[in-house]
Amino acid sequence: MGAATDHSRQPASFRRVTIRAAVLLGAAALFIALYQLANRAIEAHGVRAGAQLYQANCAACHGARLQGQAGWQSAGWRSQASAAAWAAPPLDAGGHSWMHDDASLFLHTKNGSALSPMPGFGATLSDNEIWQVFAYVKSHWPESVRAFQRKGDPYAPLPADLPADWTYPPACEPGVGPGDLLR
Ligand code: HEC
Repeated sequence: MGAATDHSRQPASFRRVTIRAAVLLGAAALFIALYQLANRAIEAHGVRAGAQLYQANCAACHGARLQGQAGWQSAGWRSQASAAAWAAPPLDAGGHSWMHDDASLFLHTKNGSALSPMPGFGATLSDNEIWQVFAYVKSHWPESVRAFQRKGDPYAPLPADLPADWTYPPACEPGVGPGDLLR
């Protein structure tokens, strides 16, 4: 009798479990969708804020279109006559800032360089504002370039859709020598 009752209850409890699982799965899917939407909204906000910060703080040297200063690959790069003559490289996909991982992009911007005209922005931009500038900079990179940069590995195969005339900057090819790696 007891066994028969148990059997008759099984389908009902099975249904309850199924319904609970479905509700849980639905909630999880909704949560993930909302999380992705929120992330996209935050990134879009960062790109907009970063655009203004970039134009106000970086464009004078790196160019309004992130194109860098003339001669950045020759006279201005490493072989410059003086530190002050070091031309600012592009920050779009035509340069090679995307070969640096996030930490070095961030720290180079926060601290600047004693060897070049690149100023440190630690006193003028908050950490969050520096990340917003890079959200804007990265919005100019094709997805393959962004994927390359996320790997943080300068030896990974180069992104497929680089500008046709892209080359390694002089003395910056991987393996040129100790300390010369993609500096
Ligand atoms: C006064 C000119 C000047 C300004 C303003 C300036 N930079 Fe630079 N930046 C340079 C120069 C010159 C270099 C190349 C030498 C070096 O890496 O230090 C450089 C290099 C860089 C690099 C490394 C790029 C690479 O390809 O390795 C990054 C990243 C960068 N700057 C970001 C920024 C950001 C972000 C801002 C604004 C918040 C900014 N810079 C403002 C002159 C400038």
